[in-house]
This record gives sequence, structure tokens and C-alpha cells, in this order.
Amino acid sequence: MLSGPNLDLLGDRQPEIYGREALADHIRQAVDEAARHGMVIEHHQSNHEGELVELVHAARHRAAGIVVNPGALSHYSWALHDALAAFDGPVVEVHLSNPASREPWRHTSVVAPVASGTIAGFGGLGYRLAVHALAGIFAASAPSAPSAPSAGGARRGEPTEYPDAGNPAGNQVDMPEGKVFQ
Ligand code: DQA
Repeated sequence: MLSGPNLDLLGDRQPEIYGREALADHIRQAVDEAARHGMVIEHHQSNHEGELVELVHAARHRAAGIVVNPGALSHYSWALHDALAAFDGPVVEVHLSNPASREPWRHTSVVAPVASGTIAGFGGLGYRLAVHALAGIFAASAPSAPSAPSAGGARRGEPTEYPDAGNPAGNQVDMPEGKVFQ
């Protein structure tokens, strides 16, 4: 999990936009959510573009996926775009606010084209949702998972609570071995 510039100020920085919770609170929630899915999170925050690029390099062949809130780098860092494009797992972009409803320069994300999906505008809940989305992507690509979910929904167990983030068609995916994914 990577956090970009100024996110170290969360809780104090423009709370009317970003809320009163600190970055550590969001990470704690993400860690909780990850534990529910048997996943472990390593988190780094940096105010430096080059350091984030190097953190993405360090994640290659080591981390299964990346959740990234690139902060303002979302809107112009082609270096981060290229680093994430070279990462060998799924990427989920998360924003506390909804950049699409803010200033026009925030409407473009150069990270979005190399992400499986973007979660924006749900405040801290977005961190949980992002981890949940990654777990769904992993479950869908697990060797014993059904390769092509039927249009009528999952074939075993209960359907997912949310449409699978790695599945643009929005088909539901269940966990291997009949485990309920929720
Ligand atoms: C942000 C949105 C960006 O536009 C902004 O530059 C940030 C935070 C968010 O989480 O809402 O620093 O990524």
C-alpha cells in the first residue's frame, strides 16, 4: 500500500475535504480488511515521486498487488504510471475525495490507465474497499476458481457482496472450495 505526497498530513490537512482521520487510521482499517482475507499489508508513505517509483520497483516479484493513493501525483506523474505499468500484479487506485467533482486539473488520473480500477469519494471506507477489490481479483484468478463465471452468477457458494473489481462485466465470483467471499 502506497501513499503519496501530503497524505502524511491527513487528519489535519483540509479536514472538510479529507476528513479527520489520520493516515494511520486508514491503514489500520486496511490491515483489518486484509486480515479478513488472509492478506498482509506493507505500507509506505512518501512525499517524493522518485521514492514512490523505487517503492513500486521494490514491490515487483514480491508483493501480490498494490493499493495506491498517489495524491496529486495521480494527475501528472508519468514516472509513477510507468513504474506501475512494470509491476507484475493488480493495482487499485484509491482517493479519499472524488477528484472528478473537484477542480478540472484533478479530473485526469495518469495512474488510472494502469490500474485495475479506481475507488474515489468514499473517504476512509475507500481503503477497505480497495483491499476488498484486490482480494476479489486474487480469488478470481486462483487456480481452482471458475475460469468463466456464468451470466447467472457464481456456480459454488454464495455470490460476492460486490461485483468483482477485476471483472469489467460485473459478473459475480465466488471463492474456491466453496468459501464465501464477503
Ligand atoms: C487525493 C486527491 C488528489 O487530487 C489530491 O491531490 C490528494 C488527495 C485524495 O485522496 O482524495 O492529495 O488523492
